[in-house]
Amino acid sequence: MKIETRAVHAGRKPEGGSRDVVPAIHLSTTFHKADDGSLPGGYLYGRPNNPNRESLERALASLEEGAAALAFSSGSAATLAVFQSLAPGDHVIAAEDAYYGTPILLRTVMANWGLKHTLVNMQDLSAVARAITPATRLIWTETPSNPLLNVTDLRAIVALAKKCGAIVACDNTWATPLFQLPLNLGVDVVMHSVTKYLSGHSDVTLGALVFRENLGKENGGEDKSPLLEKITSIQHEGGAVPSPFECWLTLRGLQTFPYRVRAHSENAHRVAAFLSTQPKIEAVHYPGLRSHPGHKIAAAQMSGFGGMMSIQVKGGQAEAFKLIAGLKLFSHATSLGSTHSLIEHRASVEGAATRSPANLLRLSIGLEHPDDLIDDLAQALKKL
Ligand SMILES: Cc1ncc(COP(=O)(O)O)c(C=O)c1O
Repeated sequence: MKIETRAVHAGRKPEGGSRDVVPAIHLSTTFHKADDGSLPGGYLYGRPNNPNRESLERALASLEEGAAALAFSSGSAATLAVFQSLAPGDHVIAAEDAYYGTPILLRTVMANWGLKHTLVNMQDLSAVARAITPATRLIWTETPSNPLLNVTDLRAIVALAKKCGAIVACDNTWATPLFQLPLNLGVDVVMHSVTKYLSGHSDVTLGALVFRENLGKENGGEDKSPLLEKITSIQHEGGAVPSPFECWLTLRGLQTFPYRVRAHSENAHRVAAFLSTQPKIEAVHYPGLRSHPGHKIAAAQMSGFGGMMSIQVKGGQAEAFKLIAGLKLFSHATSLGSTHSLIEHRASVEGAATRSPANLLRLSIGLEHPDDLIDDLAQALKKL
């Protein structure tokens, strides 16, 4: 079935005596056992499992065309679980321009664990090849990247990883499964900050991992893959799980996700085209523009370019902040992927290790009419 249909139906089943069409919220943290100690409903306790979380995980697996999904309390908790599935002494190659929190996890939490890492330019395939060591177990990609919108050739990275026996993870938060299906390109695990487009309304903090393999015995497939097995255990024993209400809200938001993301992307394309004609804008980073260095790869592995862009404002940081101050429709706030348009100066958020130029602003294009967004930007640019 097409993604619009799966977004509405996947993971849902009529529940309980009332046979609700809209799923109920299951707040119970504990579930009745039969006299022999078995679990007639299939649920034991809220940390390992919950009906709302299970529905959401099935829906997310379906949207990413994966075999299984696990939901976490945030995108960063999902990322951390992938790193924690590795052993001390293992080596990770990660994109140097990944979401800034990802290298922080490697530098701080996981360095104490003894996990080694090398940050590389994922666009430079020979640099990736040179970074491989006998201990390399994981290549972490993010495409398009946050906030520079660099595009990584996923097929090429998968080919390199196969040669050294590493797995490949892809942060698919910005592309979303509407536009990019990394598992079908050979990636082993997709990570999402579901906080963004998938939930879509800036009112949920949630993360997810979707795995290419394996269905698990209960679904008629083979046993869980070692990776899925390990990360399921980290989720169950570590307990970085989302609440039933947040799972329910996400499942609600997912129903409109393909339509929302298509509109985000159409709006962004128009805004990017407008901004690239403006004399006070030094650069527009949007992979949908033919001038973008990753446009060709993006066009080959994505079916749309998404709702995110970044721009560089002539005159530096002060002018960039002046542009923000002049805007009326864009909210000056962090995060992305929601109905309302957001703008943010990334270097001041990302701290000393930032790779964002001082004059760079990140724009999350919302679902307002694009003419209104362009008018707003035009009037703010006039004030510079
Ligand atoms: C691309 C990307 N990955 C990961 C994250 C982290 O997700 P969360 O904030 O849900 O922990 C973010 C958050 O901004 C993101 O944009």
